[in-house]
Amino acid sequence: MRLRRKNVLVGISAGIAAYKIPVLIRLLKKEGAEVRVITTSEAQNFVTPLTLSTLSGNPVLSEFYDKNGSWNNHVELALWSDIFLLAPATLNTLAKMAHGICDNLLLATYFSMKKGKIYFAPAMDLDMYKHDSTTKNIQMLIKTGAVELPAQNGKLASGLSGFGRMMEPSEIIQKIIDHQLDNLPLKGQKCLVSAGPTYEPIDPVRYIGNYSSGKMGVAIANALFNKGASVTLVHGPIDKNLVLSGLELRPIQSAEEMQFAMEAEFDKADIVIMAAAVADYRPKNVGQEKMKKSKTEISLELVKNPDILLNLGKRKKSQILVGFALETQDEFENAKKKMIGKNLDFIVVNNPKNEGAGFEHNTNQVSIIFPNDKIKEVPKSQKSEIAEIIVDEIVALK
Ligand code: C5P
Repeated sequence: MRLRRKNVLVGISAGIAAYKIPVLIRLLKKEGAEVRVITTSEAQNFVTPLTLSTLSGNPVLSEFYDKNGSWNNHVELALWSDIFLLAPATLNTLAKMAHGICDNLLLATYFSMKKGKIYFAPAMDLDMYKHDSTTKNIQMLIKTGAVELPAQNGKLASGLSGFGRMMEPSEIIQKIIDHQLDNLPLKGQKCLVSAGPTYEPIDPVRYIGNYSSGKMGVAIANALFNKGASVTLVHGPIDKNLVLSGLELRPIQSAEEMQFAMEAEFDKADIVIMAAAVADYRPKNVGQEKMKKSKTEISLELVKNPDILLNLGKRKKSQILVGFALETQDEFENAKKKMIGKNLDFIVVNNPKNEGAGFEHNTNQVSIIFPNDKIKEVPKSQKSEIAEIIVDEIVALK
């Protein structure tokens, strides 16, 4: 599932290699990608829309307008695409891409691409492939940032042998995955994440704690790591089996230990996420020996713990700083106050009263609040999915 959550648009031009694209779509789906397909009208002579729509799970688009009169929005398609794979890319399509000719939906979508990466797999007869103008057009496209998946040497449909065969679908997918891994958006970034509860000791065998499982913070640390960052995770008692290998772990117990660990790492970090459920108070005096059971009533004197995030916010230089808020009433107002007070780039709010949200669950339901008052509501989802959405917001700030 190396392309999980990736939106892949496959653009098919009219070349005989189009017969391999159904296999390519299967492989993309197997890697977890969401797939949509555009074809030139001629391409449908080589591969049927029915096959493509059945395998991709989406209607196949080819014209600007459908028979029912609805407009196929190339701008929306381009914005949707994380990856636009043109395969096979014929001489005609490559030349139009290189020279700004836009006479079909596939090309209009190509020229509307913004954030997504473009890959193209040329396929044509050998003399067409080695023609000067093809070489120049490919060079021009590479200069614009598109990635060539070069044609291969071998037997061609014309009966000739030479360079011009489209790269095999499995190799295309491997090349895209390799390229994506080499260009992960957080490569070289140092991240510091806190997760889990803190345990505030009462005596050698007892503590004050909370029900935090650390799952949300761990999911965020994992998602940052998957985007290429190096990650240090400062954590209270959590299930370490959920943590990806490759993360640096700094286990702690109390809030004061967490503060020490976070402050030691803060200046080196580019991105800091405080997802831990830090205990607000700790026992003033910690018993050296186990407290004996005697009176019917006892009272514990508590003192306030340091607000770790508040202090980090004061020290913040160029770091992106993100906090969490767990609110049971007036959630937006209270969270906004915290975001401003703690000098955060954004804050993630959860209300544990919502079904499937908060501590211990594998799911959560959050809202992300930004300083410009934008609010992104994230419906109930797996914590791993929410983590990826939060990390995408961080990437967008970079
Ligand atoms: O003020 P409140 O505790 O609601 O703020 C929550 C945010 O502050 C969380 O990101 C939490 O990890 C952090 N926090 C902290 N130190 C504390 C209490 C909370 O860093 N003592």
